[in-house]
Amino acid sequence: MPYGPSALTKPVTVQTLQRMKADGEKFITVALYDAPMAAMAQKTGVEVLLVGDSLGMTVLGYDSTIPVTMDHMIYHVEAVARGNKKSLIMGDMPFMTYATPEQALANATRIMQAGAHMVKIEGGAWLAETVRMLTDRGIPVCAHLGLTPQSVHKLGGFRVQGRDEDTAGTILSDAALLDEAGADLLVLECVPSTLARRITEAVSMPTIGIGAGRDTDAQVLVINDILGLTEKPPKFSKNFLVEAGDIPGALHKYAEDVKAGTFPDDSHTFG
Ligand code: KIV
Repeated sequence: MPYGPSALTKPVTVQTLQRMKADGEKFITVALYDAPMAAMAQKTGVEVLLVGDSLGMTVLGYDSTIPVTMDHMIYHVEAVARGNKKSLIMGDMPFMTYATPEQALANATRIMQAGAHMVKIEGGAWLAETVRMLTDRGIPVCAHLGLTPQSVHKLGGFRVQGRDEDTAGTILSDAALLDEAGADLLVLECVPSTLARRITEAVSMPTIGIGAGRDTDAQVLVINDILGLTEKPPKFSKNFLVEAGDIPGALHKYAEDVKAGTFPDDSHTFG
């Protein structure tokens, strides 16, 4: 096994993640929402903590991320920041809080002031100006392509994206545009593994996959899925608690398998 997780010794920065991409070392991301989980992630060496708007479903009991507000996000980013020492905290911008570049700047400022080190926004080419607006002003941005849950009603459900040449081509060109606009990271959610690989090779920013196969620069899973708390878990997720027996063990096993390139395997991947 080439790599194993260990506690972080230095704060993780955008530059750390770029170096890891260049060196071919995978980094670990977990979507989590509170201080004790953030503290546990430190001990496991999780490089990126995503305070995802998935909290609408995993914590607040909604059936999509659409009802999530800025106040929800601020509350949870502050909690994660209190438990964090060295990981990079990425805060999701909720539905309709970045519809214009000016609105994005005002709301991203609040998320950064709550303790995030980066914001994440969902969407393609239309966000290039927003990415430029934020990154030029010192706010790192993670883009999010493929299945973008805030657009669930436009997409017709939580389904795999980019299966045909046309939509795959759009995702690929969106990724190139956002890279060019200065995005620092890219989440690829529920896309065929071949498309994720093409994008990862084409862009300079590191890619983080979820349901995107094993060839992205990093993986992200939601803590509820890692711990088997999801009633109908998605195909791309894995309950690591069953095997590990306790919560620290489950996080450790997830991190170890990502570093070693053994998670995800074919059973978690869309062809
Ligand atoms: O909100 C979230 O947790 C996310 C991940 C699933 C990538 O966006």
